[in-house]
Amino acid sequence: MKTKDPKTFFIRTYGCQMNELESEVMVGQLKRRGLKRVLDEAAADLLLYNTCSIRDLAERKVMGKLGQLGRSKMRNKLIGVTGCMAMAKKETLFKKLPHVDFVIGTNNLSELNNVLDDVIESGQQQIRTEGEYDALDYTIAEREHKLKGYVSIIRGCDKYCTYCVVPYTRGQEVSRPHEEIEREVRDMVQKGYKEVTLLGQNVNSYGKDQPQSGVLFHDLLYKLDKIEGLERVRFLTSHPIDISVELMEAVRDLRTVCEFVHFPLQAGSNRILKKMHRIYTKEQYLEKVALLRSIVPNAKLGTDIIVGFCSETDAEFEETYQLFDEIGFSVAFIFAYSPRKGTPAMRWADDVPEEVKQERLHRLLDLYEKKAAQERMGLIGSQMEVLVEGVNKNGQLKGTTRCWKNVVLDGNESLIGSLQMVDIQGFNHSTLTGIIQRPLILT
Ligand code: SAH
Ligand code: SF4
Ligand code: F3S
Repeated sequence: MKTKDPKTFFIRTYGCQMNELESEVMVGQLKRRGLKRVLDEAAADLLLYNTCSIRDLAERKVMGKLGQLGRSKMRNKLIGVTGCMAMAKKETLFKKLPHVDFVIGTNNLSELNNVLDDVIESGQQQIRTEGEYDALDYTIAEREHKLKGYVSIIRGCDKYCTYCVVPYTRGQEVSRPHEEIEREVRDMVQKGYKEVTLLGQNVNSYGKDQPQSGVLFHDLLYKLDKIEGLERVRFLTSHPIDISVELMEAVRDLRTVCEFVHFPLQAGSNRILKKMHRIYTKEQYLEKVALLRSIVPNAKLGTDIIVGFCSETDAEFEETYQLFDEIGFSVAFIFAYSPRKGTPAMRWADDVPEEVKQERLHRLLDLYEKKAAQERMGLIGSQMEVLVEGVNKNGQLKGTTRCWKNVVLDGNESLIGSLQMVDIQGFNHSTLTGIIQRPLILT
């Protein structure tokens, strides 16, 4: 018999930053209902899993977890599945996991409390996955961090890369009204936030679906830059085809906008890029990188790469390897291709053997590690702006640079929340170490 009166909840998030933000909103919704969050599954009346479908491993992690719950006493708790896997699997989740009480898709999250009422009143399983666009109230998000937070600016994706589930799990692109975003960021700054990361599958498409508003992505950056007390604006992710000169100029000219662009390459061979439907060639990608570097010489680049996509040959992988080496990315996420149900690439054989994918993956990871070590060496002796965010387990201050490097430094806890100019002196693994030059802004 399932509880009719949940008092506590547990939530686990899988997947990307958008999911993290949406979990923070759900925490806000449940707290408003009077539930208390607990960090131990066994102590919770309601268990919530906000899921990801991007690769098979992401789904297997959740399915393994949920299967395990079904074989334990925990199956008697209220159990909900939300997020991208809810959209990818829909009703079939109930067949495989009969102890799951409700399933809510990415465009129905605002209904969480109503769904909970329906489950409790009817004693029946509930599913909501048909929403088109859910005007989620982000202002109630209970954010994990107190100084930096995520802000969703555009939901969904219209790009339809052939390997990717996101257009199916998140629907079409819909931009949030800029007034609402500005209000939210202002509100965060009043609460003490210094940094926001603007989120979207393709932030550069911002505003294109709402031509009447006349506000494109770079316009939004200019508006946010005027908010007093806001120190840093980051954004994720940029599709290479949509990144504009105006955006590059905004990165160069605006006080708040960090000089970092996450710019997924995915592959270095034109045949594979075409098969992926990335709609750019490697030459066009290189041109954008050169343009960005000429406009913003200190810009750092981040990227995502998929190795072992359908029919990728050794020679085609070598092109990815060479390009990766040539460009030099400051941050890279490298994945082995994972076929996803419902995507166009499912029509093609997943014909690169697993061991070949793993070998390519490790070769690129080794190259990345080598380049990252060179980059760290090159940073020694430089001065970097650090937002002091907290204290590490050794009692040292920790923070991040504008280009997303972690730094530890000695100093007083009263500096938490301030920006400091730091002399970089060395590193420990991937974390830089430094000393404060002189206080910049004390808050
Ligand atoms: N919208 C972003 C990324 C979303 S998903 C963009 O296009 O840049 C994050 C990354 O996961 C992608 O950039 C891609 O590298 C990887 N990815 C997506 N689908 C995948 C799949 N089927 N197999 C392996 N990696 C995948
Ligand atoms: Fe997926 Fe491509 Fe959209 Fe990124 S741009 S979310 S990889 S379909
Ligand atoms: Fe995963 Fe959905 Fe994000 S598939 S990566 S949680 S958009």
